[in-house]
Amino acid sequence: MFNKIYNNDARDILNFIHDKSITSTITSPPYFDMKDYESVNQIGFGQSYDEYINDLKVVFENIYKITKDDGTLWIIIDTFKKNGQVIPLPFDLVSKLVEIGWLLQDIIIWKKDKTVPWSGNGFVQRKFEYILFLSKSKSFKYHKDRVRIYDTSHLKKWWVKYPERYNPKGKALDEIWEYPIPTQGSWGEKYIRHFCPLPTDMVGTMIQLSTDEGDVVIDPFAGSGSVLSQASYMRRKYIGFELNISYIEMFEKYLESTLESGIRKYKLFVSGKDQNNFEHTILNLRAMKFAKIIIKTIKDILSINDFVVHVEIVGKSSVQYKLIKVKYIFIGNVNESQLAIILKETIAIPPLSKFGIEPIFEYQSFPPQNIINTNNFYGYTETNTYCTFSEVEYENLHPKAKIISSIKIELNENDYE
Ligand SMILES: C[S@@+](CC[C@H](N)C(=O)[O-])C[C@H]1O[C@@H](n2cnc3c(N)ncnc32)[C@H](O)[C@@H]1O
Repeated sequence: MFNKIYNNDARDILNFIHDKSITSTITSPPYFDMKDYESVNQIGFGQSYDEYINDLKVVFENIYKITKDDGTLWIIIDTFKKNGQVIPLPFDLVSKLVEIGWLLQDIIIWKKDKTVPWSGNGFVQRKFEYILFLSKSKSFKYHKDRVRIYDTSHLKKWWVKYPERYNPKGKALDEIWEYPIPTQGSWGEKYIRHFCPLPTDMVGTMIQLSTDEGDVVIDPFAGSGSVLSQASYMRRKYIGFELNISYIEMFEKYLESTLESGIRKYKLFVSGKDQNNFEHTILNLRAMKFAKIIIKTIKDILSINDFVVHVEIVGKSSVQYKLIKVKYIFIGNVNESQLAIILKETIAIPPLSKFGIEPIFEYQSFPPQNIINTNNFYGYTETNTYCTFSEVEYENLHPKAKIISSIKIELNENDYE
């Protein structure tokens, strides 16, 4: 039953699947009366709007019956213009879906380069489509931490100067998803000419969010099978329906030739390597910036400058809302009890209370006696804690060194102005 595309009408799904076995449906329905997919009985082409939308309702009603209670439905769909006015198809369809029992959870914007152009007067350039996200019940699979954005080229450069504002696992998705339409490079020229395949990363995001490995993903309007191949790479079972047999044949060849590389890419993703690197960098940045704020506070209140701060991450914190334990050793001419009072007050209020850091404070005179045993220390000025200016030694301390650590951060200052 699984891992195949049926060359059958999506309205007849119940003839093939009887049990509640589907976890997520991801699909882009045929366009209304705009595109001929070259098969008899196709939905959309040659139909009236009422026939079209009622047929879509039949398909999603049948799917509702075979969807598990924690299951979901993703529909990529757009408005269009007919007889000089906009037809709000996504919203008309939502009304039908809600009648069936689907619960509308979200409306996401898929921002792409261009879509099918509107003709006639009164149009601006088309740049997005809607993604409707619905669930069968109020309790549905939704793994939001898996799809956080930690590829730093997709983050605003502020993440470096304000690491405390970024979740160490990455930025949560927002309601605008930017994915270019697949180009020839990824799908091959022949494919692009025949279909409008969905971007693999976008489909991957939906699959990650709403399913687990081993779950079943269905696309009742499979087309090129972009949803189903992605599901297959991600160790989900898939089922498709598609009336045009030549599309199915092409999909089978495509899957065979891309399966290995698709699985490899997925494995790399779930290994969490890149996400771990991001987390590591954010926590390092926070630990160092924490020191910078402390130094500024002490200078403002006590007007002393005759000390350096040594920073080392000790480990994870077990205190509620704190992520890491960090040791801050004040080395130099400081009054320990006076400093302790200021530190206690400073770390209890924002911004430092929001850093997720459980600090441990120690005090030593210069030169330090039993500083952490490492050969390489990096120096930071009191204004820049995201780029070391050089390696430093306690025996011959660099005059610019105000913060010293074995943590090495080298993010180019000019990139983050
Ligand atoms: C917008 S395309 C899907 C594109 C697909 N998401 C992809 O990535 O290639 C819609 C598809 O639905 C198919 N279709 C139309 N009516 C159908 C029906 N009644 N049952 C099954 N498939 C149908 C068309 O042949 C077409 O391939």
